[in-house]
Amino acid sequence: MFASMRNNRMLWRPLVPVLLALLCQTGVSAQMAMRGTMQEGRLMFHSSALSSNGLACIQCHADFDESRQSDGLIRAGHPLVNAASRETWWGQDEEDPDRYSDISHAAVFCVEHFMRNPQKLTAQQLLGLQAYLAGITKRPIPTPLALAPAADKTGEYSGFDGGDRINGRQLFFAACHTCHPNGNPGIASAPIPRDQPAASYARKIREGDGLGSTLSGLDPNAYDPDGELFMPFFGADRLTKNQIRDIIAYIKSLPPPPQR
Ligand code: HEC
Ligand code: HEC
Repeated sequence: MFASMRNNRMLWRPLVPVLLALLCQTGVSAQMAMRGTMQEGRLMFHSSALSSNGLACIQCHADFDESRQSDGLIRAGHPLVNAASRETWWGQDEEDPDRYSDISHAAVFCVEHFMRNPQKLTAQQLLGLQAYLAGITKRPIPTPLALAPAADKTGEYSGFDGGDRINGRQLFFAACHTCHPNGNPGIASAPIPRDQPAASYARKIREGDGLGSTLSGLDPNAYDPDGELFMPFFGADRLTKNQIRDIIAYIKSLPPPPQR
């Protein structure tokens, strides 16, 4: 009898560490599920799954320091590295009782509006995104982002003719191609027209779906949250006037879009 108990023990013994590991793991993952993990958030940041139109955060925001390790793309939004400890987001006042509680809540606007996802984010998705954005905040910068919307206050957008189309080609691929491949529809419902006055392209680039105009203090009603438009605006520190002029010259040089 003694011998068989010993045998039983012996049989169990190698299993003990396995069982312990299992117990720990389920404990840890339950805890992680409550907190959200960096990896979960990283996948969300790079995936189109959060959107209904195929856009992902990474198409509009870098998750690295673009000034030090550029990947050649020019995104409409600013990088979100070191951004999780900003005192506020979207230019909100620190005293505003309705301000976003953290960076993941500040991102919901983008999910709903640019990414056309009326489901917004679940509590678990918010936690994952928060964990990721906090994780890429190594040198916290508390100062709020200086938004630089640059709609033309005169509404005329003059001086956008005569750009350099060779330079514009490179800029087009860096800033526009991801959504308008070669000027074709892409995620927009129509191709980019080739024959508009320069001012109309400049307005579209600076104001996007209208938000660029509203944030510039030009027209509070330019942007319709329930409307069909969702092109992001490019502010002054994303594209300069000269760059926009060159992009326009390139668009005008493109062959007509294929007939459908
Ligand atoms: C179609 C482009 C687009 C997409 C997609 C997008 N954003 Fe944005 N987002 C913007 C623009 C434009 C702004 C305005 C501020 C700026 O220039 O960065 C902004 C602002 C923000 C801000 C506020 C920044 C601040 O400090 O004021 C946060 C946070 C943010 N986005 C997070 C996200 C996250 C996370 C995702 C993915 C879930 C996402 N965004 C998807 C374009 C986009
Ligand atoms: C993140 C995606 C995205 C990026 C980047 C983007 N666009 Fe757009 N653009 C759209 C969408 C979506 C539409 C159609 C719906 C709308 O207007 O919001 C559009 C519409 C347009 C139109 C109007 C087309 C028409 O039918 O009149 C022009 C012009 C345009 N984009 C030019 C540009 C240029 C130039 C760039 C680069 C500087 C650019 N876009 C970058 C998404 C984008």
